[in-house]
Amino acid sequence: MRAGTDRALPAAAGALLLVNAAHPLPDSAPPELAGTGPRWPEVKLERRAAGLLRACIRAVGGQDVIVPVSGWRSRAEQQAIWDETLKTEGEPFTRQYVARPGCSEHETGLAIDLGRAAETIDFIRPDFPAYGVWGAFRRRAAEFGFVLRYPAGKEAVTGIAHEPWHFRYVGIPHAAVMAERGLVLEEYLALLRRAHTRTPLQVRAGARCFQILFRPAWDASLPPPERGTYRQVSGDNCGGVVITTWK
Ligand code: DAL
Ligand code: ZN
Repeated sequence: MRAGTDRALPAAAGALLLVNAAHPLPDSAPPELAGTGPRWPEVKLERRAAGLLRACIRAVGGQDVIVPVSGWRSRAEQQAIWDETLKTEGEPFTRQYVARPGCSEHETGLAIDLGRAAETIDFIRPDFPAYGVWGAFRRRAAEFGFVLRYPAGKEAVTGIAHEPWHFRYVGIPHAAVMAERGLVLEEYLALLRRAHTRTPLQVRAGARCFQILFRPAWDASLPPPERGTYRQVSGDNCGGVVITTWK
């Protein structure tokens, strides 16, 4: 992905960017985008996230009943959605369900709103049930690097109401840790910052063992990974960097 390499500016990009009202996304070029499926070419995500979304939908047999409703949005689109929702639904509703322009993770290309295929689909609050194929998608999302970004009970942390339709790509193995421990992105990054600047968080996901280390600031002198070891680096949009390694 755009920042997943050591050469890019990892503090400003990567799958673990925290974007919320307190942490706006710096104005930057859009990520490399790809379609979320042949039937929805206009709904795009960051290339890697798009591939894994398609794979997860296929894995649960959801091609005909799961609709990608909204993926990457430009700041201008987010502004138009904010303005329109404010006009039609009023301010309390808008604040609950629409992020301010610049503060929406849809602008990263890592967030996707999913709906149940139906004649009409609500653009702001699509129906995405907890049962059937949609429930299966929820249960398997973490295997493909996605988490439910705005769960019930975490409104005070995320600043957004429960959104059963909004999934966020954070990557493997982070999605598995967050799902298992019931952590939203704000809490997961705080945990890494608090407890894993020296001792990596060790995670087994699938057949692999991952080590996750947090650095409060990017250090361009990070030595290259050992032979046979893979490394992915992501900024957190708060000045820190998450370094994930595996063999
Ligand atoms: N619905 C989410 C919060 C957004 O507008 O980014
Ligand atoms: Zn959304």
